[in-house]
Amino acid sequence: MRRSWIAAALVASVSVVLIAADLSQADAKKLQNPVPFTRRTIDQGYATFQQYCTGCHGKDGKADMAIVPATDLTAPKLYKSGTTDGEIFRSIRDGAGDQMPPFKYQGLSETEIWQLVSFIHSLWPEAMRPPLLPNESKSGKRM
Ligand code: HEC
Repeated sequence: MRRSWIAAALVASVSVVLIAADLSQADAKKLQNPVPFTRRTIDQGYATFQQYCTGCHGKDGKADMAIVPATDLTAPKLYKSGTTDGEIFRSIRDGAGDQMPPFKYQGLSETEIWQLVSFIHSLWPEAMRPPLLPNESKSGKRM
């Protein structure tokens, strides 16, 4: 009896995990990556990318396997849904176009998504990347 109560409580607590509402593009543009652009956060984003994203975007983000029309993430000028921090965050969290799935339903935390944004920046031509901060810089929280 007690055991089924615990099970019921567990089910209830899992089902109340809040899924954030979709961001509008205008609201997304106002967001800034709260995660500093450091070697450490890029590596964390890289690990998540290898786990969730390579099937469509390829190991290097270039998406040249032509299975789905995924964006070449190394070329910001090819992006269809915006290249600001917040717009990239929105593409990952809420989905993009017809075939980019929203990752908010797949258990990725917002921090993990921001780390992905940092990793994606690291794929860009050097002149377009944010300045790389030291892992323990004052301007960024230690992640
Ligand atoms: C099922 C295949 C698939 C997976 C898995 C996938 N993507 Fe995508 N992604 C796409 C497609 C297709 C597009 C292009 C959408 C469009 O037409 O606008 C896209 C677009 C994007 C964009 C927007 C680029 C633009 O054109 O503005 C970003 C950013 C992105 N993906 C990042 C990721 C990240 C990070 C992951 C892993 C967490 C991921 N994707 C996983 C298929 C996928």
